[in-house]
Amino acid sequence: MKCGTGERKKMEIELKRALITGITGQDGSYLAEHLLSSGYQVHGIVRRVATRESDDRFKRINHILDRITLHSASLENYASLYQVMTNHEFHECYHLAAQSSVPDSFSDEFTTMETNIKGTQYVLAALRDVQPECRVYFAGSSEMFGQVEEVPQREQTRFHPRSPYGISKVAGFQLARNFREAYGMHCSSGILFNHESPRRGAEFVTRKITSGVARIALGLSSELVLGNLDARRDWGHAADYVGAMTLMLQQDDPDDYVIATGEDHSVRDFCEAAFSCVDLDHSDYVQTDPRFLRPAEVNTLLGDATKARETLGWQPKHTFQDIVREMVEHDLDMWRKYQ
Ligand code: GDD
Repeated sequence: MKCGTGERKKMEIELKRALITGITGQDGSYLAEHLLSSGYQVHGIVRRVATRESDDRFKRINHILDRITLHSASLENYASLYQVMTNHEFHECYHLAAQSSVPDSFSDEFTTMETNIKGTQYVLAALRDVQPECRVYFAGSSEMFGQVEEVPQREQTRFHPRSPYGISKVAGFQLARNFREAYGMHCSSGILFNHESPRRGAEFVTRKITSGVARIALGLSSELVLGNLDARRDWGHAADYVGAMTLMLQQDDPDDYVIATGEDHSVRDFCEAAFSCVDLDHSDYVQTDPRFLRPAEVNTLLGDATKARETLGWQPKHTFQDIVREMVEHDLDMWRKYQ
């Protein structure tokens, strides 16, 4: 059931309402800011436990809490999502919530599958059952390409995921496509390559590096222990990438898009760039430990975002150097308090 032109026009006159799952995360917080600045009314879904541990959970959205509406619901519970969709009408839904750590998906594959696959099915099914005209964004991942079959990766590149996380994202991607084809819903997926910022969780390599560099520069630590330094990633800035998500939902037809910078660097390159921000040599501080290696690694990810550039008019603004410097400076400020 596609949204008719008349109905859509009526919605455009009204204030647009967007729902974000995963609003407390890096991408959710940047997306909420972006939508607010575009005049949207922004709603988010949070687990009830999050409202109790609000200081830490809401650290990325504290500054906009008075401008957004939060609903208590869980991706593990269809009824709770159904209730939110029944009580509020949304024009756009951005489904970002997920167990997003690749190593954690090996140590707890069952939770990863439950949250990422069932959670996506519940969100899509609740929207189909209550408000099928709502446009949906699904957060796909370059991790779906895994053992890459071509470099760079495009929308047509075959998926070969190498982790429970990657497999769960392929399943979510296929669900979104099936809801589009079977029910005519406006479901689009972004195949986002790694995207970072000072709001990145400490479990991801970039933030682990910039936080480690800051601690070493301030005399709070003397080494940084990592896993595979040769892995290569196409690192962009999260603030640029949320813009692509919103552009996808403004298109007449739903579709899938690779979002990437088209430039790759190794983990070692990232270390070198981060340590040079504080005039130190990474080789004096970086150690490796096999406990940070993964049972199956994705060695290289490099995206070709030609389709997004040509169709959405999207392109990244931040360079690799901008990202590294912004993260290091943020972490220097953060750790200075502990000196
Ligand atoms: N986390 C981590 N910790 N990674 C390390 C470390 C370490 O100590 N040392 C080396 N690495 C390597 C990993 O082996 C991997 O090859 C690379 O650094 C990047 O790891 P992460 O930052 O954890 O990100 P990711 O690429 O596995 O996954 C991220 O990007 C995906 C998009 O491709 C996550 O954000 C996913 O949720 C996202 O979908």
